Amino acid sequence: MPTPQDLSGKTYIVTGANSGIGYEAAKNFASRGATVALVCRSESRGRDAVASIVAATGNARVSLYVADFSLLSSVSKVADALLADLPVIDVLCNNAGGANGPRTVTAEGFETTFVTNHLSGFLLMRKLLGRMLGEGNTGMKRVVFTSSYGHNNSPLDFDDLNLEKDYTTLKAYGRSKLMNLLTARELQRRHGDRNIVSSSFHPGAVRTPIWGKGGLVGRVLGVVLYPFMVSVEQGADTFIWLASSQDEASVNAGGHYFYKRGRPRTAAFATDDAAAKLWQVSERLIEPYL
Ligand SMILES: NC(=O)c1ccc[n+]([C@@H]2O[C@H](COP(=O)([O-])OP(=O)(O)OC[C@H]3O[C@@H](n4cnc5c(N)ncnc54)[C@H](OP(=O)(O)O)[C@@H]3O)[C@@H](O)[C@H]2O)c1
Repeated sequence: MPTPQDLSGKTYIVTGANSGIGYEAAKNFASRGATVALVCRSESRGRDAVASIVAATGNARVSLYVADFSLLSSVSKVADALLADLPVIDVLCNNAGGANGPRTVTAEGFETTFVTNHLSGFLLMRKLLGRMLGEGNTGMKRVVFTSSYGHNNSPLDFDDLNLEKDYTTLKAYGRSKLMNLLTARELQRRHGDRNIVSSSFHPGAVRTPIWGKGGLVGRVLGVVLYPFMVSVEQGADTFIWLASSQDEASVNAGGHYFYKRGRPRTAAFATDDAAAKLWQVSERLIEPYL
């Protein structure tokens, strides 16, 4: 195996970084010398993660930002804090997410899975993009979206993005993960000529705490799939590769969806038209929070 590239001087943002593959990826970037901003929902879990990464890597340039991704107002504030603190942003890892039990609607009027897994990451990316691509920000930039094989579950229904008509845990989750894949592709189409590489990936079925947080469906699936799941280290491999490798395939990953560093077939309904439309609709929904 070649020696992993040194990331000194690079600044990484990882959302959902206190646990699972987000934690594993953040620790890897820190171990290679990067400045790493962890964006977490819980201040105490986030502090524990920072302390554990600093202890494991000896890198003190690891900091915590707190945001609840079910609320766009919270994500907007954290984006402002990141912009205030970080003059350069090299890599944004949009990873926070999960499944939910029965349908709930946030105080801002969005179905919880839709806003947490898609709209919030979209808003964060939109608010940080100017900094990533702005003047003086030289070198290749990357945005990585944690999608899922679950994107195959269901096509989007643009008339029912809040799943008022036919909510199920799996439909909400699958659609949100399709949105991650489509957003990565459309970001590349719009800005790929500006030295940015935007990609998405499926980590595999991974032994992380996520299975205990998705209501009854999540818990049952977690038990059934447990014997077949891979370790967190294995699940984070493609994530880390997309976010940091100089391999030709990683550098040219823009617009594509990966699994085990390869490019599997995506759902037939993951079309470029759906990607373009999703971007436009998402822009309208986040506009009050920009
Ligand atoms: N595990 C798998 O088999 C699998 C398969 C396909 C895709 N994925 C995707 O991989 C990503 C990471 O999941 P994981 O498996 O590593 O699970 P995890 O350990 O539960 O990590 C999920 C992270 O997202 C954070 N998060 C969830 N809701 C949030 C909210 N409202 N605001 C802010 N942060 C929030 C969690 O924070 P808390 O710790 O506070 O909950 C946690 O840090 C997710 O996007 C998931 O959809 C996982």
